[in-house]
Amino acid sequence: MAANVSVSAVVMAAGKGTRMKSDIPKCLHRVWGVPMAEWVCRAVRESGVRKTILVVGHGADLLRSTLGDEHYAYAYQLEQLGTGHAVLMARQALATHSGPVVVLSGDAPLIQAETIQTLIERHLDSGARATLATYVADDPKGYGRVIRARDGRVKAIVEEKDCTPEQKLIREVNTSVYVFDSKLLFKRLPRLKRSNVQQEYYLTDIVADLHKLGESVMAVHFEDGAQFAGVNDRWQLAEASNLMRMRILRRHALAGVSIVDPATTYIGPEVELEPDVQVEPMTALSGKTRVGRNTVVGPQSVIADSVIGEQCVVLMSHLNGATLADGAKCGPFAHLRPGAILGPCAKVGNFVEVKNSELGERACAAHLAYIGDASVGAHANIGAGTITCNYDGFSKHRTVVGESAFVGSNSTLVAPVNIGDRAFVAAGSVITGDLPEGSLGIARVRQEVKPGWADGYRKRRRETSP
Ligand code: UD1
Ligand code: CA
Repeated sequence: MAANVSVSAVVMAAGKGTRMKSDIPKCLHRVWGVPMAEWVCRAVRESGVRKTILVVGHGADLLRSTLGDEHYAYAYQLEQLGTGHAVLMARQALATHSGPVVVLSGDAPLIQAETIQTLIERHLDSGARATLATYVADDPKGYGRVIRARDGRVKAIVEEKDCTPEQKLIREVNTSVYVFDSKLLFKRLPRLKRSNVQQEYYLTDIVADLHKLGESVMAVHFEDGAQFAGVNDRWQLAEASNLMRMRILRRHALAGVSIVDPATTYIGPEVELEPDVQVEPMTALSGKTRVGRNTVVGPQSVIADSVIGEQCVVLMSHLNGATLADGAKCGPFAHLRPGAILGPCAKVGNFVEVKNSELGERACAAHLAYIGDASVGAHANIGAGTITCNYDGFSKHRTVVGESAFVGSNSTLVAPVNIGDRAFVAAGSVITGDLPEGSLGIARVRQEVKPGWADGYRKRRRETSP
C-alpha cells in the first residue's frame, strides 16, 4: 500500500442473519472459536488499514463487547434497511477521512489480508473511483452478478433476486469486498433508491450509479473464490469452518509438519507446531497449544492449551492445560488435566489421570492411576492402581512422592502425605502417615495361611450336599 495514503474500512455487521435461525447475531457466529466479524477485522488490520468502523445493529451490544473498543470504532444501524444504508451509517465516523475506504461484509470470514492489499493497490494505481473484487463462481447462486459493458467496464451489479433469466447465467459474482473513494461514496449513498425486490438500499446499486455518472469502476478478478464465501446459513458456516481448517492445515504442512490425514485433523488458529511434528489421524489441537520438533501427536488425541516439548509421544490421550518436557510420553488413554506437568522422559500410561501435579524426570505411572495435587520425584515409580486421595470433601491436600520412590500397586495415598526419597510403599497399602527416606511403608492386614484348609472345605461340602 502506498505509505502516504491513509485507508479506512467499513465492516457491515448489523444484519440479523435470519437464515441462521439463531438468537446470536450472524456475524458473531464463530469459525474456529473466532467470531466471523473478527476474522474479517483481523484481515483488515493485517492489510495495513488503520481505522475500522464496524456497522452494528442486531445484537449491537454483544458484538461490541465481544470485539472490543481497542481496535475498532462502531456505527449503529438501528433498522436494517440494506447494505447501502449500513455503509451510510459510517459516514459520521469517517467525516474527516478523505482517502479510500474498503468496504467488506462481516459474514465472509475467509478473506485474506493480501487480497485486501491487492485491491487497495489496484484501486490506487488505476485511479478508479470504485474497485470491486470479483470471481467466477462454479455455482453463482445467491450472489450479485457483475454486469459488464461491451468494453469490459463494470456497468452494474444485479442481485440474484432481481436478475433476469439471462443475467442469472452470469457466473462472475460480486464478493462484497470493495474499495471506494470515500468522499464520492458518501455523497452518492444518500441518493440510492430501494426499487428492488427486497425493498432495500443496496450498496451494489452504487456501481450503476457511478457508471451512469461516467466515473470509472474497476473489477479486480481473483482466482481463489473460496476466500470470499459468504455465510448466510449454518451449512455455509460449516463449509467456511472446513475451508478455514484446510487453510490452517496447509500452512502447517508447508512449514514442515506432517499431517497424516487432513480429513480428520483439527488444528486451531493459534496452535504452534515446529517442523517435523507428526500429527496422526483423528486428532484435534486447540487453544494455545504448542508442540516441539519430532513429537508425534495422535492418533485419536484431543489436546487443548498444552505445551509439548520435543521427541514426545501423545497417543490416544486427552490433554487440557498440560505441559510435557522433552521426551515425555503419554497414552494410550491418558487424561492430563490442567496443571499436569510431565518432566523429561516421564511416562504416563493407559487409564492414568493427572491433575495439578508434576512428575519429575523419568518418573513413571504406567497404568490405572489417579495423581491429583501431587509432586512425584524423578525416577519414582507409581504402580498400577495407585490413587492419591487428595480431597476430603472440603479441601484439597498435597501428596509428595520423593525421588526414586516406589509406590506398589493398588496403593492409596491419603493426603496430605509425604513419601520420602527412595522409600517403598508395599502393594495394597493405605498410607496415611509420612514415610522417611529409604523406608518401607506397609499398611495392610498381615497375611494368614491355613495349610490344607481348602481341601478340607471341599470335602465337607461334598459330604453334606445331596
Ligand atoms: C451481498 C451483496 C451481493 C454479494 C454478496 C456476497 C448486497 C445488496 N448484496 O449479498 O451482491 O454477492 O453479499 O456475499 O450488498 N448488513 C447490514 N445491514 C443491513 C443489511 C446487511 O449490516 O441492513 C450486513 C450483514 O450483516 C452482512 C452483510 O451486510 O454481514 C451482507 O448482507 P447480506 O444480507 O448477507 O447480503 P447478501 O445477500 O449475502
Ligand atoms: Ca451474505
